Parts: sequence; structure tokens; C-alpha cells
Amino acid sequence: MLQSFKGDGANAPVAIQREAYSAPAFWIDTVDLCFDLDPAKTRVLNKMTLRRNPDVPAQALRLDGEELNLARVLVNGAGTSFKMDGDKLVLENLPEGTEPFALEIFTTCLPSKNTKLMGLYVSNDSFFTQCEAEGFRRITYFLDRPDVMASYTVTLRADKAKFPVLLSNGNLVEQGELEDGRHFAKWVDPHKKPCYLFALVAGQLVCREQRITSRAGHDHLLQVYVRPGDMDKTEHAMNSLMASVAWDEARFGLPLDLERFMIVATSDFNMGAMENKGLNIFNTKYVLANQATATDVDYSNIESVVGHEYFHNWTGNRITCRDWFQLSLKEGLTVFRDQEFSQDLCAEASARAVKRIEDVRVLRTAQFPEDAGPMAHPVRPDSYIEINNFYTVTIYEKGAEVVRMMQTLTGRAGFARGMKLYFARFDGQAVTCDDFAQSIADANPESPLATLLPQFKRWYSQAGTPRVAARGEYNADAQTYTLHLSQSCAATPGQSEKQPFVIPLSLGLVGAASGAALPLHGTGSAGENHLFVLTEQSQSITFDNVAEEPVPSILRGFSAPVVLDFDYSDAQLLTLLAHDTDAFNRWEAGQRLALRSATAALASGTNGPVLNAAYVEAMRAVLRHPTLDAAFKELVLTLPSETYIAEQITLVEPQRIHTVRESMRLQLASELHADWEQTFADHQDNGAYSPDPLSSGRRALAGMALNFLCLAAVASGDALWPGKTLQRFKDAGNMTDRFNALQALVGSGHELAAPALARFHSLFKDEALVLDKWFALQAGAPDRGGNVLPAVRQLLAHPDFNLRNPNRARSVIFSYCSGNPGGFHRADAAGYVFWSERVMELDSFNPQVAARLARAMDRWKRLAEPYRSAACEALKRVAAKPDLSNDVREVVERALA
Ligand code: ARG
Ligand code: ZN
Repeated sequence: MLQSFKGDGANAPVAIQREAYSAPAFWIDTVDLCFDLDPAKTRVLNKMTLRRNPDVPAQALRLDGEELNLARVLVNGAGTSFKMDGDKLVLENLPEGTEPFALEIFTTCLPSKNTKLMGLYVSNDSFFTQCEAEGFRRITYFLDRPDVMASYTVTLRADKAKFPVLLSNGNLVEQGELEDGRHFAKWVDPHKKPCYLFALVAGQLVCREQRITSRAGHDHLLQVYVRPGDMDKTEHAMNSLMASVAWDEARFGLPLDLERFMIVATSDFNMGAMENKGLNIFNTKYVLANQATATDVDYSNIESVVGHEYFHNWTGNRITCRDWFQLSLKEGLTVFRDQEFSQDLCAEASARAVKRIEDVRVLRTAQFPEDAGPMAHPVRPDSYIEINNFYTVTIYEKGAEVVRMMQTLTGRAGFARGMKLYFARFDGQAVTCDDFAQSIADANPESPLATLLPQFKRWYSQAGTPRVAARGEYNADAQTYTLHLSQSCAATPGQSEKQPFVIPLSLGLVGAASGAALPLHGTGSAGENHLFVLTEQSQSITFDNVAEEPVPSILRGFSAPVVLDFDYSDAQLLTLLAHDTDAFNRWEAGQRLALRSATAALASGTNGPVLNAAYVEAMRAVLRHPTLDAAFKELVLTLPSETYIAEQITLVEPQRIHTVRESMRLQLASELHADWEQTFADHQDNGAYSPDPLSSGRRALAGMALNFLCLAAVASGDALWPGKTLQRFKDAGNMTDRFNALQALVGSGHELAAPALARFHSLFKDEALVLDKWFALQAGAPDRGGNVLPAVRQLLAHPDFNLRNPNRARSVIFSYCSGNPGGFHRADAAGYVFWSERVMELDSFNPQVAARLARAMDRWKRLAEPYRSAACEALKRVAAKPDLSNDVREVVERALA
């Protein structure tokens, strides 16, 4: 059966409600799994010990299952009656009382036919599993819910030549030979776990090993498993893993609780990586790196994803979620932890600020639109149809901001105390977001978090991005400055009224004339920074002894996930850009200036220069600044994206936005030409490659300079810089410089792009992850007269394209539909037609990936005509497909609602 609806035969999928939670009627204490691994037909013998949950009225046992062939069911060794209710296996005649009993279930499944990549599947002739959220039910019948935690013993049997490596969670206790060239391995996991953390891997793999001794003196074996040709790309992942182990012990006192910790890379994976207990399974994209094939951005992503999955070992695995509505309990907290980890690995404060700006940029370009669109949901949702659709930037990134605000309100030491209490109370349990927030508050009874906890928790229950409107009043005679602050939050689906949030606002004052950081008298805060906690709809704060007219620097470090509205003058923003001691607001001032120019040009419809002279001069000053980091300069000089600009206006004309932003880029390219030449010359690294933040910042800025130099050259007809760029592309000693040069040629539309692309392909035709970059660069290239879509269609016909490989599908289709608004939103609707074809095509074999692509249309209602009608039609075409998955149906129906 291909189609599976949740519910009792009804013809529509049923939404699951958070309020409907009830504890399981049975507990599963032990699970003994034996796999006979065969791609065409794998046999799974599942022997469990169960007992009735005495707290729940006696009832039948209803086990989850999906696409399984059931061969045998035994209770305490004897045959028993059972029935099927849809996909569920129902056992009614189980022993009464609360004594444990044995349940044995024998099933088979078809890993080689598993195109959804959920459950047990085959990739490159190896076996992998992905069980979160509900994949375990595709392996055996089970209570597939995170609050059922069991002890696992796993025996794997397979052909030894084809599958020499056999891995599962925990410790290897036995291995040996079997008949017919087969062998076996037996693994015992010493920790109880929910089934979504189960994993197995079998195949031809090699591993990099590292033995470490923890601070506490325990020995551990760390392993990174990859395909045989990839050993030379495992060093960085291993270093990142060692750094993660050390960091969690140092910062939170959380040690590695396993003798053996394994990471395995697979090239077919629906998402980034998975924290299975002791056996993390990763997308190759977040493991493999060497300087010839990976960019600085890849190195830094690997560091944070390796950290993320490792940190789940405590926040997710030791303490897990009671139900999937609590997903942010582990994901928001773990993203917060991986962000802190990456910041703590930065030696310089400036590099930490750069990391913070990058994280905020992700939040604002991806999560804010989600929070304003049809899929908006609270950090702790109230209902869902398909849980896979709720692995979102809201659950992850906004959830991390909520945890960050808790740390801001309790202080770093207070937050660490809260974490200790959380583990003291809940280690080994499946709990809720409330349990977490209560622990942090209880450990800090004097903090504003404790006194405001019920109101603070609205961050978990209310969707939507709050707006804070601020207005300043300077009284020169009294030397006072008053900030009037008010908050609001727009309605979101299902939530028309919002109650006020607890909004921590970190703020300071900068002298308008002097640029000096002003002391903050009258606030109780010593120094130049004050934390004001906005709790009412409207509040004011007055500063005394303010000797000169100030410019307020509000929301420093992006202290809360809100939009700040303040009617800054250009002069005020230029002051902040030049002088603010808070790096985030310094960057933000530049973004506000650029955004304001863009929106003014869009409103007036001008075809003249978009950027004013003061802005261009300010950018020149940043570029020439003697002490600012290259990485920071690169962020300041990066214009707000087309997507971000579109979010700031009510009637979106994507082609106009594209034109305006392109003309802003060209203006920066030509008016700063000499500075770009100087910048490029000043940022040449000749030493050995190192992906540290300072050197990668230098490479990023040099790459940006090349981009602008090529852009200017195409406009002026000059051949010098394109030629130099091609030369750099050929000579580059690392992928970052090589790819930046290629990008400069492609981004400028220069004719040398074609030979460079061809050369790049032939150099890297055997490197899947590099080919993904090659595809993505072309699908994401700036549109020139509608040239991208035909190129994308050609890429789909390329012999190296493979829709079944999620990385490759994303590299072409997502780069175009989600990452290239100028190319995608075509007046002839061809981009939307392409989107609908691909969503339906993907949905027929991998609904999870299809549903992600479906999200590309989230914001269609804000489009101007003719885009809006065409987008609506495309959505309706998808919605009308009769056998659509629940995954895609939930997304498109919410979009059309
Ligand atoms: N827990 C994994 C991670 O954060 C992601 C699992 C995603 N699963 C899914 N069904 N989308 O890191
Ligand atoms: Zn995670």
C-alpha cells in the first residue's frame, strides 16, 4: 500500500493535537533485534519485553508499522490472534496484569526499494537507517513514539564480502563467521533510548580512529566512517568531534557517556545529519572536507553540524522529548549549543560577532518569512499533519533564540546552573519544553526569567515575529533621553490575538556628534550597556545626565528575535555604522541604509543610481578601515538579499527587486573600483591553507572583490579582471579561492564563465559534493533576460544529474526555486510550472524532499500580478494531484488556505 492516512479510514489526513497527548498503554523495556540484511529482502526478528502501563486503563496494544510484510507474531512463545487496523498491528488478547511478557514479531522489508530514505535503505550498496521522526515503524512493528524508551541488543548478519562493516548503537560485544560467506556482529547499547535513535549501518567502509582521554580520565574511541576513497577528507570532522567532546565537558560539565562514538557518512540523506545514540549518521556534505574540494563555508558547517549532533547526546538523547510537539526542546537547545560552541572556538571577539551576524542573517531571511507565512507555527506547535514538515527554522533557529534569551535573562553562569538542574531532574526521561524552562527559572529564582516565566513562555505558544517600535526624545536642558517602546505581533494562522512577549532589549547610547559611547545614568547599569526587559505593550525608559544628543543603539547583539522599527535618519545610521561599539548594530546600520535605498527605488520606480553618495563613501571607509576584520567588512559590504528586501514590502515585484539590487551591486562595483583592486591585492594569503575565521574572512573579502571587479569589467568592456580571475581560478591552491573565482565569472555573466565551468567539471567529475556546487552555482546564477530556467532544464538532462539523490536534487532544483528569485519568478509563469512538475515528480518517491520544495511558494500571496495568479494556479495544480502525500498536501493546502 503506497498511501497511508492517519486515522480510521477517513479520506483526509487527520491532524494530531498536542492537547490529545496520553501516556502509552504499554512500556517496552527490552528489544532484541536480529537482522538478516539483504537489499532485496531483509528479515527482521524483533523480540521485545513489554508490560502494561499501570497508570493507563487496560486496552489493546496498537503497534505502528509501515510498508512491512508481517510473517509471525508470538506472545510468550505461543501464537496469538491479531488484526490490522490500517497500518497498525492490534493485539487484544494479551496477558492481564502488569507482569512483563514476551512479544516476538517477524517481518520483512525491501531496503533497495526504499526511495523515501526513511527506515532501512540502501545507498551506494551499503545499508543505512534514518528513524527520526517515524522511520522505525518502517523497520519493525513498534510503539514508535519518543516517550517509550528501551534497552536494545542488535545482531546484524550479512554477506561478509559485500558488507564487511556491521555497526549499530552502543558497544560491539560479539562478532564472527557464519555459513555461506556471511558474518555477524552483536551490539549492546548500555543506554535506554527511544526508537528514533536506533541506527544500523552495513557496508564497505573505512574509518579514521582517534583515542581520547576525557578530563575526568575516561578513555573513548572516536571513529569517522566513510567510503574507501574518502579517507583523506576526514581529518576536519574528527578534529571537530574532539573539539565538541572537550567543549561540552568544559562549558556544561557534560562528558561523553560512551566507550565508543561513531560518525558514518552517506551520500543519500534527506537532511543534514542524525544523532543516533553512539552512531551518528551524516550527509557526506557535513563530514567530508579537504582544501582541494571544500570551501571555508563547508569547513565551518561541518564544525557546527558535528558539534550539533554530538551535543544531542545530552540534549536529545539522555533527556528526550515526550512527544514531537516538544521537538524544539532538543532542537532549539542544541542549535543554541552548537552556536555557542562555534563562537567559543573563535579566538577573537570580532570573529564571535561575525558568527552571531551570520546566525541572525539565517534567522531573518528564512525564519521571519516562515513566521509571517501560511506555515507559521509556534516554537511548540499545537497540531500537525506530518511531523516531518515541522523540522523547521522556527523549531530550530527561533527555538535557539528562545534559549538564548533565557541565558540573557539569567546570565551565563545562571544558565549553566539551570542546565545542571535540568539534568538533575530529568536525566533518562522524556520531557517537555515546560520542564526545561521551569528548570532554568528554578535555578535562578531572583532572575527576571523566574518572575516572568508564564509570560516568557508565550515564546513557546505564540507564533509570529513581534515588532518593537521605538521613539526617542532628547531634552537638552534637562539632559535626559527617553526611549518610548511598544510591542505588537501580527495575527498568524489560528492565532488572531497575541499577548505581550517578554523582550530583552540590550541597548546603549552613541553620541550623535562625538560618536562616543555614552555612560548610561539612571538605569542602574554601570558601563555603556543596559538590558531593558520589555514586558508591557508600551513602556518608557529615561537616561539621566546625557551630555549630548544621542543615537540609540537598540537590540544589540540581536538580543531578541523581533523586528525593530525606529525612524533613524541617514545621519544617525551613518553614526552607528562608524562608531557603535556593538558589532551587530554596526552591521545592522549598514543593512538599514542599503535597504532604505532599495525600498525607495522600488517605490519611486527610478532607473537612476540607487545608492546615495554618503552610503558609498561609508562603504569605502569600511573597506579602507585599518582595524576592522576582513570577515566583518565582507558582511557589511553584502547587500540585503532579494528575499530579505521582498519581506520588507507589501506588494512584491520580484523582477523589479532583482533589477534594483543588481544595479546597487553594479554601483558598488564601479564607484569603489579602485578600492576593490586594493582590497584584492591586500588580501592574498600565501601561507598554508587554514580554515580559521581570520583567514577565511580574508578569502571571503578577496572573493567579493573579484566578484565586483568582474561585474565592473563586464559593464565597461575591460578584459583585465576577467582574465586575472580565470588565471586565479586555474592556479588556486584551495577550493575557496577557486570557487570564488568561478563564481565571479559566472555571477558577472562574462563569456569566460563557460570555459571555466567546463574545466571545473572535468577537474571534479568524480567528486559528488563538488559537482553539487557546480550545479548549484549555475542554477543560482543572476538571471539575465530569463536565461536561467533554460539552463536549469538542461542541467536536469545532464548525465550527472540524479533526482533520486537529495543533495543533487537540492543543488539544481532548490537553488533555482528557493535561492534564485530573479530567475524563478518569471512573468510567463514558466518558473512556477517547473516547480509544480518537480514537486509532483519528487513526491512520487520522496515526499519529505518534495514537501521542502513545496515551501518555495509560501509567500505567493504577497506577489504582484501576474505572478500572484500564476503562483496560485501552480499550487492548485499540485493540490489537485490525487495521490499526493500528506507531506506535500499539508504544505500546499496551508498555502492555499
Ligand atoms: N535530529 C536531526 C538533527 O537535528 C534531524 C532529523 C530530521 N528528521 C526529519 N525527519 N526531518 O539534527
Ligand atoms: Zn538536531
